[in-house]
Amino acid sequence: YFPLLKNRGLPHESEKKKEVMLTAYDYQTARYAVEAGVDILLVGDSLGTNVLGYSSVHDVTLSDMLHHTRAVKRGAGTAIVVSDLPYTSMKTPEKCRDHAQSLLENGADMVKIEVETGRAPYLDLLNREKIPFCGHIGFTPQTPGLSVSLQGKTARRATELLSLAKHIEHAGAKYLILELIPYNIAAHITSSVQTPTIGIGAGPYCNGEVQVWYDICGISEKTYRHTQVFAPVGREIRTAFTEYVHAVQHDRFPTIKNAGVAPEETLLTLTG
Ligand code: KIV
Ligand code: NA
Repeated sequence: YFPLLKNRGLPHESEKKKEVMLTAYDYQTARYAVEAGVDILLVGDSLGTNVLGYSSVHDVTLSDMLHHTRAVKRGAGTAIVVSDLPYTSMKTPEKCRDHAQSLLENGADMVKIEVETGRAPYLDLLNREKIPFCGHIGFTPQTPGLSVSLQGKTARRATELLSLAKHIEHAGAKYLILELIPYNIAAHITSSVQTPTIGIGAGPYCNGEVQVWYDICGISEKTYRHTQVFAPVGREIRTAFTEYVHAVQHDRFPTIKNAGVAPEETLLTLTG
């Protein structure tokens, strides 16, 4: 079944490299990601819980997104910057369009919109206004009451996701994010639409992958099946901070080598 994927074969059979997307929330992280070869930087609204300490993704404002989009853009070079339309943008299709335009004016190359049933007027308006966008289906964190769980295990939900994917394709999306979708269903969706799919917790048969950088660096408080810690950066930060505190408290840092010195005469003018 899997080798029959229309758009691309299994990863080892494919000539085309997968698209690599990673979240970025600031200038330095954008630089690191781009230097490492990341194709697409996602200023996700996971910004709220990861960086801003909000308890919910619903608290993220447009102004938060604009502020961090500008920061990421400054470090993005030629990488594509995608910015999330926050929950507050989704009150009406017109508000969504206006917020999308603000994100584009502040450095985003594309916006990302979470799609559940009922969002057709939003997609159609973005399409009509020629606003480049990326759809996001499956587990959509902005949906109130949707538990963090695999989406599309039942025939009914899988059918619903496939039809959302097709609508997103027809509305002209540049990419389609598949979050927490069984890998066989994600493979089927990938083979059913021309829009490149980018998975997270959706298995290896998508056209690309996205991860939250705090997760792959072990900075997040939780660990999840859908991710992997590629380097324990969180542990390294903890070590650095702890050693810094001890070094200052025990007079091992700073030393005179960490500062300049004035000529003796200068000091004499002060001491008389
Ligand atoms: O906000 C985010 O980080 C996201 C990704 C998990 C896709 O939407
Ligand atoms: Na998001």
